[in-house]
Amino acid sequence: MNGNELAESRGLPRLAGKIKRALGPAGVFFRGFLEHPRMVGAIAVSSPAVVKAMLEPVDWANTKLFVEYGPGVGTFCQPVLDRLPGDGELLVIDTNPLFIDYLRKTIKDSRFHAVLGSAEDVEEIVKSIGHEKADYVLSGLPFSTLPDGIGARIAAATQRVIRKGGAFLTYQYTGAAREYSKRYFSRVDTSRVWANIPPCTLAWGWQD
Ligand SMILES: C[S@@+](CC[C@H](N)C(=O)[O-])C[C@H]1O[C@@H](n2cnc3c(N)ncnc32)[C@H](O)[C@@H]1O
Repeated sequence: MNGNELAESRGLPRLAGKIKRALGPAGVFFRGFLEHPRMVGAIAVSSPAVVKAMLEPVDWANTKLFVEYGPGVGTFCQPVLDRLPGDGELLVIDTNPLFIDYLRKTIKDSRFHAVLGSAEDVEEIVKSIGHEKADYVLSGLPFSTLPDGIGARIAAATQRVIRKGGAFLTYQYTGAAREYSKRYFSRVDTSRVWANIPPCTLAWGWQD
């Protein structure tokens, strides 16, 4: 009997499956962090308080395309889909295949597009699903730990892709994302949510 057969006979795969299911999305997210700590930049998903506060100022009735960078295991995805009108679409972009596979398997909504790629290429990706502009872009990217130059390229491309009246929504433990918004958007509102591990800085960069 080889090692696998021995494990099988002892019921180990079933136990591993049970542990994975019990951990659910939090387990998938933590695995993503262990494999790519600098790209993921957080050990836990955002709290419901962050999700609610971040999405509050969005004009949902006039949202045709909502883009999210770095959805991870989709903490924001269902809340966004719940608020989007029937003809609105949600496009998420993440560099991690573990997360994109997970989202494609768990979210079954015809308004949802999950793309494996980098936020730097947002303009091309938006065009690939038949749009010219996005109404809103939400970012969970860890701007302070991204490789040199990537943060500025992402912020510049985001400024070009958002329509007039739309906004760039960011949340981060540090103020790095807010500083990029200030550089690329003329008006930036900010807030702080304490009910998150750790507490988090929110910013809305408006395209005036
Ligand atoms: C802090 S985690 C996201 C947390 C999640 N949105 C939440 O609310 O819990 C950061 C995410 O950004 C992704 N990421 C990092 N660099 C990226 C890039 N250049 N383009 C798109 N996604 C990226 C990571 O794979 C990870 O999913």
